[in-house]
Formats: sequence, structure tokens, C-alpha cells
Amino acid sequence: VPACPELDLYLDTAATTPPAAAVLQAMAIAQQQAWANPASLHGFGLAAAERLERSRQQVAHCLGCSPAEVVFTSGGTESIHLALLGAAAHLDPGRLLISAVEHPATVAAARRLQQRGWQVQVVPVDRQGRLDLDVLDALLVPPTRLVSLIWGQSEVGTIEPIGQAGTLCRERGVLLHVDAVQMLGHAGLSFRDLPVDLLSCAAHKLEGPRGVGALLVRSGVPLQAELGGGGQEAGRRAGTEPVVLAAGMAAALELTRARLGEGGPGPEGPLAALRNRLLTELERLPGLERTGPPPGAERLPHHISLLLRTASGQPLPARGVVRELARRGIAVSSGSACSSRGSAASPVLMAMGFGEAEAAAGLRLSLGSWHRWESVRELPVALELAIAAQSPATAS
Ligand SMILES: Cc1ncc(COP(=O)(O)O)c(C=O)c1O
Repeated sequence: VPACPELDLYLDTAATTPPAAAVLQAMAIAQQQAWANPASLHGFGLAAAERLERSRQQVAHCLGCSPAEVVFTSGGTESIHLALLGAAAHLDPGRLLISAVEHPATVAAARRLQQRGWQVQVVPVDRQGRLDLDVLDALLVPPTRLVSLIWGQSEVGTIEPIGQAGTLCRERGVLLHVDAVQMLGHAGLSFRDLPVDLLSCAAHKLEGPRGVGALLVRSGVPLQAELGGGGQEAGRRAGTEPVVLAAGMAAALELTRARLGEGGPGPEGPLAALRNRLLTELERLPGLERTGPPPGAERLPHHISLLLRTASGQPLPARGVVRELARRGIAVSSGSACSSRGSAASPVLMAMGFGEAEAAAGLRLSLGSWHRWESVRELPVALELAIAAQSPATAS
């Protein structure tokens, strides 16, 4: 149950989540007891170093890896850049494969590699955003040296077949980086059992603090630091470590693990059941079409994505509806929120085969652990009113 009742109407957890009470408490304690620089040799520094390493062990325990495989970063964007640029620095320039539905952070890192002489090839997806494994398979030949794939797609909720893709990469000796930023709070994850070499995480999507994340780097995979300096994080990421934020990330992962243990997240958990009920109601509204896979193992359990249309069937730009709902106190996002500069058309929906007008009509609603049916039951009516208010016939 949220500390603040307005959180009932916050349906944008795929953008970010409010920190949980247990996270704030862990951070307050770390701030009091371990505020010093972990590199300092006095008692204050040793306390900070001890707290940092305890957080690293907690993170490693929750994610099924060894503490030495955890590099703390500032979040998803930095982890992705460190993974791709840092791994590529130890390889001869070759070909990087990415899917057609990556987060803009991966697209930006791929562009950097292009500037360093790499070719970048995009692997297509189907109408539901699922990676084409046959095309991936065919492209896993020289000069392909690196692959980067999103796991849980933020805009349309698709869970990509990372296990199968990773097995193919392993067979061909090609390094695989996975962007697990959206997946982390919603699935049990054991890095040691995944055929994945590098895995990017952020704390703020799972009720942890903003400004901290981790890159998991499989033992033996060489990685060049992007930031030089004091040689922290075993020479892989310089800069005085954010001890308090790392403590918050560890607490958030512990919370997720406890919820998973109770059957919390995942396709069978109560959050998925709530999402399914809400989606069923929304799909009854005229003109609304789900994008991405149906509820089940191929869809993030907290995630709803819809294409908006007017009563006459024309795609309806989602940004106006987002603003209309915001006026009614309901926080959702348009599908193209992550690429908010320039065109409103979502590159993700376009890659899935939607036209430009449809690609500007994507709406995303994402639920949090605190939501109950009472929190969201008004949403279908509010959305219907917002659509009517934005439709051309009634807008004037
Ligand atoms: C799938 C995915 N990857 C990467 C990121 C970037 O993470 P951060 O905002 O922590 O830099 C996000 C955030 O929206 C995301 O959803």
C-alpha cells in the first residue's frame, strides 16, 4: 500500500518507481554509518568499504553471480555503454548486432561503435516485437563479434527469447550483452545459469533509488573502463563509489527476491492477475488494440500497451491523451516516451510494422507492487473520456 494515496494513480512504473520504505531505510542507515570514501584507510573509510562490499554481495546473491562480477554504475544507460564500448575495446572492429526494438541507450552506444569502425546490423522483430531468431542465427558468422539485446521491451512489454539467443551466441563464440533493466524487478534471474556475458541493470525500476545500477561482467570477459581515474570497481569504473545508493539497490533487489519467493511478480503472480483484469476491461473499449504479446510468459507482467484510435478508426496521437489523463490526475505515458525528441512516432512500433500515424498512437500503462483493483478500477472510464476529449470531432 503506497505511503501516499496519489500513487494509486501512478501507472508509469516502466518509466521509474518510487523508492520503497525498506529502501529508504537502508539508505538512511548507510548514510549515517558509511558516508565516507571507501578508499580511505581510516576507520570511517573502512566502514564505507565494508558497507559497499556487503551491498555488492547482496546484489550478487540476488542476481546469481559472484561479487567480483558486479560493477556498480549510475544506471541502465551507463551500464549499456560500458558493456558495449568496454567489451569492444578488447576486440578487433567487426559487426555488432542489435535488435530493432532496443532502448535508445543501446542505439546510442552502437552509434559510438560505428564511429570506431564497427558495422552495426539490426535484427528484425515480428508484429509483436519478438526477435527473429532465424535472422540472428544467420548473422552469427564473421565479422559478427558482439550482440546486444533487450530482454524486457519497455514500450510494448515483449520478453525476448534471451536463453535461445544466448545459446546461439555461445555456439558461435560471440559475446552477448543483455539489457535487463525492465526485466529485473519481474523475474528471478540467475546470471550464472544464463548464456549471457554482460548484463545491464538499474535500481530505479524496482523501487530502488535513481542514479545507481550495475553491469554484470562474466568472469574472464575483459572490459575496458570508459571512465579513467582512481581505478575503483576493479579498474572497470573509476569514481568514488556511491555507497548509499548501492545499499539502496541491494535493498530493492532483496525486496524483489522476497516478492518473487512469495509468487509476487512473474506471469502467474498477483500483479499479472491485476494487469490481466485491467487489460480485459480496456480491450472492451471501442478502438483500443493491444500492442506486443498477449499476457503470459512472453509479456512483462506489469505492462499494458495499447494503440489508440478514434471512434471512426483513425489512429489518435497518444501524447494528447497522456496530457488529458494527467489533467485528471492519472499518470501514464505515450509509447514513444523514451525517444521524446522530434517525431512522436515510436521507432519501436515502426519496427514492428505499424505505420507512422499508428506509431504515434501508442499508450503505455505500467503497474506497481502496491496497486490493487480499487486503485485502477476508474481507469477504463477515464481513458474513454480522455479519448473522446482528444478525438477531432469533439476536440473543438
Ligand atoms: C529497457 C531499458 N534500458 C535502458 C534504460 C535506461 O536506464 P536508465 O534510465 O537507468 O539510464 C531504460 C530506462 O527507461 C529501459 O527501460
